[in-house]
Amino acid sequence: MVKRMFNTRIDLDQDTRAAIIERLNQSLAELSDLYSQVKQAHWNIKGPDFIALHKFFDELASDLLPLIDEVAERIPTLGGYALGTVRMAASRSSLAEFPTHVTDAQGMVTALAEAYAHTARCMRESIDFAEGQGDKATADLFTEVTRELDTRLWFIEAHLQ
Ligand SMILES: [Fe+2]
Repeated sequence: MVKRMFNTRIDLDQDTRAAIIERLNQSLAELSDLYSQVKQAHWNIKGPDFIALHKFFDELASDLLPLIDEVAERIPTLGGYALGTVRMAASRSSLAEFPTHVTDAQGMVTALAEAYAHTARCMRESIDFAEGQGDKATADLFTEVTRELDTRLWFIEAHLQ
C-alpha cells in the first residue's frame, strides 16, 4: 500500500491526516467500483424497459463523477496520494462484484440497489470516522456523498416498489 505523505500547512496533525487519507482512499475505491457497476448495467440492460433504464443508469453514473472527484481531491488536499486507478480500486473495494448472469430490469435494478445501499453504509460510517478524527470538513464531504447516494437509492428502489 502506498503511504506517501506530503507537507502541508493545513492545521491537522500528520497522524490524523494519514488516518483520514486511508479512509478517503478506501471510499474512493468504493465509489469508483460503484461507478463501474452502474456503467456495467447501462451497457448490458435488456428488456421492454431498455431505453428508460439505459438512460437512467447513465444519469446515475454521471451523478457519481463529481462526488468521486471531490473525494479524490480531498486526499492531496490533506497531503496524501490518491489511489485512483481501476486496478487500485478493484483491490480495495468492499463492494460485491456485479452479477454477470442478470440482464433483466428487475435483476439489474436489484443489483444496483444492493450496491448503492452498501456504498451509502460505508460513507455513513466514514462521517463518524472523520468526526472522530476532528476533521469536520471531511465529515461534511462524507455527509454530502451519503445524502446523494441515499437519494439515488430512492430513485432505484422506486422501480421495485
Ligand atoms: Fe452510454
